[in-house]
Amino acid sequence: MHPFHTIIEPFRIKSVETWKFTTREERIAALVRARHNVFQIPAEDVLIDLLTDSGTGAMSSAQWGALINSDESYAGSRSFYRFERVVRDLTGFTHIIPTHQGRAAERILFHTILHPGMIVPNNSHFDTTRANIEVEDAEARDLVIPEGRQPSVVHPFKGNIDLAALEALLDRDGDRVPLVMVTVTNNSGGGQPVSLANLRGVRALCDRFGVPLFLDACRFAENAWFVKQREPGQAERSIPDIVREMASYADGMTMSAKKDPLGNIGGWLALDDDQLAERCRTMLILTEGFPTYGGLAGRDLEAVAQGLKEVVEEDYLRYRIRSTAYLGDALHRAGIPVVRPIGGHAVYLDARALLPHIPPLEYPGQSLAVALYEAGGIRGCEIGTVMFGLHPDGSEGPAPMDLVRLAIPRRTYTQSHIDYVVEVVRWVAERAKDLRGLRIVEAPPALRHFTARFSPLDDSGVRAGP
Ligand SMILES: Cc1ncc(COP(=O)(O)O)c(C=O)c1O
Repeated sequence: MHPFHTIIEPFRIKSVETWKFTTREERIAALVRARHNVFQIPAEDVLIDLLTDSGTGAMSSAQWGALINSDESYAGSRSFYRFERVVRDLTGFTHIIPTHQGRAAERILFHTILHPGMIVPNNSHFDTTRANIEVEDAEARDLVIPEGRQPSVVHPFKGNIDLAALEALLDRDGDRVPLVMVTVTNNSGGGQPVSLANLRGVRALCDRFGVPLFLDACRFAENAWFVKQREPGQAERSIPDIVREMASYADGMTMSAKKDPLGNIGGWLALDDDQLAERCRTMLILTEGFPTYGGLAGRDLEAVAQGLKEVVEEDYLRYRIRSTAYLGDALHRAGIPVVRPIGGHAVYLDARALLPHIPPLEYPGQSLAVALYEAGGIRGCEIGTVMFGLHPDGSEGPAPMDLVRLAIPRRTYTQSHIDYVVEVVRWVAERAKDLRGLRIVEAPPALRHFTARFSPLDDSGVRAGP
């Protein structure tokens, strides 16, 4: 190794996309048109888009090359077999069922195995996972360790599931639990990793109570990198080796290939149980497509197969995790409350701590997301009471945390872009006391954060403006 400490991007740029700069007045107008919901702002009006790391990364020249070589046959495409081989090598699962994205895998799995009244435990369900469980009249229960709910508490594996709580649930209500899920890394809880020891513990409980274990594995490579860095005895192992061990504890996985597999679209459901696989494939044919393409083009399957090779490279993962930490550490040093330690794919601002004068039901996270866009054209995503505060019975309460996630698209932004983000967040944080909450004026009954319409509140807590 050379003696230099700077972590540089392990690639050079071959193709660029120019963007439009907007003025603050233009952004205020865009916010009014979007009814203060950043999901409703046209991407062209966003300068640095940290809404999600899902499908927003840059593909490599090898991925683009693979697209040209793809096979678009309806049945038995060569691209499917390559995709299947790469996924199977990395995970060890018998049945690899391609889907157009992660939520399709979730829908197929949950619709196939859930009945009303069942309970699905997880460290933390992400929004679509929760919604796909609740739509079957089942309950999504979050059992992350207590440290995982406290933004400022530092713990190496804050995504771990609370094994005592899981055991108590299985002991009491095991007959209502058709599967246990573990999300790696834990997106809703700050992109925090799960240790191998914890997965082993979950597996032991699943064996004892005869319940299958599934991984929601979107950020499996980032999780494996954290295991390598932080878990005793893992430092010398290769990433694919750690990934295989993670998968070996599970009976299956759902995957959004828009994250670590470096695709712009794609996903899969993988599992070992032959009969369950058969039932899932029947559902797949109904809504996604034939089992050798599952809602994807051959070129998408190629891009993902190639992406899976690139994402487990150590130079890539070192840069990826270090560059996310670069943003988080700079904000932490500036005194801005962020979830710590810094997660893999995103930095999570603690809006509840930064805006203590805005109560959770006036959505501090939404207020901060709106302010970041207005100040500097940065789009982040509220992960808090807007996203998780509405319960299936129609009641509303504060989510465990009110965060704003600044998700970093893979291989897309450079260090100067991130320096700009630091400057804008600091500018907004210095004016935090001037921010006000919002009220929801219209929202659908589920997944309301995507389409809800908001109205800003003024100092006395009444609607201020359109
Ligand atoms: C942990 C987790 N699970 C599932 C999903 C759903 O994946 P997709 O957006 O591809 O449907 C996401 C997407 O953000 C996620 O972060």
